[in-house]
Amino acid sequence: MREVKIAGIGSYVPEKIMTNDDLAKIVDTSDEWISSRTGIKERRISEGENTSDLAAKAALKALEKANLSPEDLDLIIVATSSPDALTPSTAVFVQRNIGAFNAACFDISAACSGFIYALNIGVQFIKSNQSKNALVIGSEVLSKITDWKDRNTCVLFGDGAGAAVLLPSEEKGVSSIFCGADGRKAEFLNINCVPVKNPFVTPEKIEDIRLTMDGREVFRFASNIVLEAVNKVLKDANLTLDDIKYIVPHQANYRIIEFAARKLGVPEEKFFLNLQKYGNTSAASIPIALDEMIEKEIIKKGDKIILVAFGAGFTWSACLVEW
Ligand code: UT7
Repeated sequence: MREVKIAGIGSYVPEKIMTNDDLAKIVDTSDEWISSRTGIKERRISEGENTSDLAAKAALKALEKANLSPEDLDLIIVATSSPDALTPSTAVFVQRNIGAFNAACFDISAACSGFIYALNIGVQFIKSNQSKNALVIGSEVLSKITDWKDRNTCVLFGDGAGAAVLLPSEEKGVSSIFCGADGRKAEFLNINCVPVKNPFVTPEKIEDIRLTMDGREVFRFASNIVLEAVNKVLKDANLTLDDIKYIVPHQANYRIIEFAARKLGVPEEKFFLNLQKYGNTSAASIPIALDEMIEKEIIKKGDKIILVAFGAGFTWSACLVEW
């Protein structure tokens, strides 16, 4: 069976920077609280661009790096919790924005684990000869569903997008990829939708669409699943942590990573973190981090890295990438 590699990565974040001090002007919080509990210092906030706009900008950069034009694309998958519309998919807006009119398009909903879920689907489409390539995007404008009155959540999230072009390869690329979910924990991190409302049902109340979270439950789940997922990838690939140059986690909270690093017995520096600049950008956080690592030549050809994500659902996902 042929291998699949990441041939190009691109990312895009809105220009507008919102610092912790800016947040302290609208909710009862402080830079000290946010920095010490999460590691986040600032985040980017859309001034009007929607999820597909961010995604298209990241996509064009990834295509350029992969030396592919939009018409070459067979498949576009967008992982998002903040789509442009319930239907059609955000992926079709991306297709239109970049002119990739030969590509099949769909979105997937796996929250912060979405990028690796989408990567898995893209890899399987190529391995099974359904597609000769795939554009996999994580894109979020979480600011539009953030409850800006809730200090428990509004300090955590940011907007951004990251994209990866997948191509078949002779050399090893993405492997040991897997996804998991536990629907019993669905209520702990949630973005509601319209309730059932039709001629037979009148809901008592229709709430604004907004994100709600039980932070402690998510924290407990996340810190344990990072450990489990990394160990699963290592076992599957028959490797040890010494073989791994970096672990690139979903960028949610510095303390989750601190806990996982301690449990794994590795220095925190083994984890690449840039959440201080962008906050939690959900499905976009891993490809944004990867793009920065490549730009800064932190990862080089031949390096082995592990990607690991966790999020609402609960969901989780991880894989090995040989660069
Ligand atoms: O992609 C996955 C997304 N989710 C996550 O990554 C979230 C995971 N969870 C967390 O990161 C942490 O649970 C939080 C950072 C959300 C919260 O940290 P915590 O240490 O679990 O705080 P807490 O919820 O136990 O709250 C402690 C106190 C409370 O005050 P009292 O009741 O002790 O007086 C909160 O009301 O901190 C208060 N608090 C705040 N204070 C200032 C909560 N949010 C804030 C805030 N600023 N922004």
